Amino acid sequence: MIQGIQGNPTVYLNGEWTPLSDAKISVLDRGFIFGDGIYEVVPAYQRKPFRIEQHLSRLQRSLGAIRIRPPMAREGWIALVEEVIKRNEGEDQFVYLQVTRGVAKRDHAFPIPEVAPTVFAMSTPFVRPSKALREEGISVISLPDERWLHCDIKSTALLGNVLARQAAADRGVMEAVMFRDGFLTEGAASNVWVVKDGILCAPIRNHLVLEGIRYGLMQEIAESLGIPVQIRRIRQAEVMQADELLMTSATKEVLPIVRMDNRPVGHESHAGFPGPMYKKIREAYDRAIAALSV
Ligand code: PDD
Repeated sequence: MIQGIQGNPTVYLNGEWTPLSDAKISVLDRGFIFGDGIYEVVPAYQRKPFRIEQHLSRLQRSLGAIRIRPPMAREGWIALVEEVIKRNEGEDQFVYLQVTRGVAKRDHAFPIPEVAPTVFAMSTPFVRPSKALREEGISVISLPDERWLHCDIKSTALLGNVLARQAAADRGVMEAVMFRDGFLTEGAASNVWVVKDGILCAPIRNHLVLEGIRYGLMQEIAESLGIPVQIRRIRQAEVMQADELLMTSATKEVLPIVRMDNRPVGHESHAGFPGPMYKKIREAYDRAIAALSV
């Protein structure tokens, strides 16, 4: 029994399907030794992966960025994701994919000759955000962004994110919203959106943020609802004075941020409570999920 994991899910490791408790890697795996790997988290609803094409494109980008040769083609990834969903419990699941540079003698430089990457996939039942979270919103803290300068790579080397999220947990809140040089970057494990005067704003997708798959989805939703979007640099003061703040991620979908640093967030008409733009976007997000099973 592994702490916090119910049952014994079936996982994929380097071509084999095994119970999670039997899946073992070498201590010399570069993922373990250096955090030398990348990952993806793909949500699945009613056993159908959501935005799989976009997740796989990002996986390919991350592999390319750290120079790991893709261990399989796109069709291989799709088959793997479908199979891991099939072999596990839960209508809604999230699939975790990880690729590391493989097992080699400890040396920072890449192994020569090249070694086979380690490929791992598992699935967890997806408990979607509760009614309370959706209707009452979440609290966050603000923190300086102390991570490295390649946050666009979905790397497993997540110490900066881990410490930021723990700082939030220590304060009893769900997420840390980070700022670099006075500008909004993102959450420890989410993207952050600012609503001001009817415009939905998000930071520029550069090396300082991970381009969440919900980034594109939110833009599509906004377009379908006639909400103008601005992708631009956002000052910390603007976040504090936003009409609404939202966060998005595969696992949190879209949630309203209603308190930051223990102060209510949002326009005075609904400060401390979810706002009207969130409600419209949330409904459209639910419709996008429902459209999967049609
Ligand atoms: N995290 N930014 C960071 C740093 C993240 O870790 C995530 C997601 C996002 C949102 O990306 P997406 O919309 O593709 O989920 C943004 C995942 C869920 C995780 O690490 O578990």
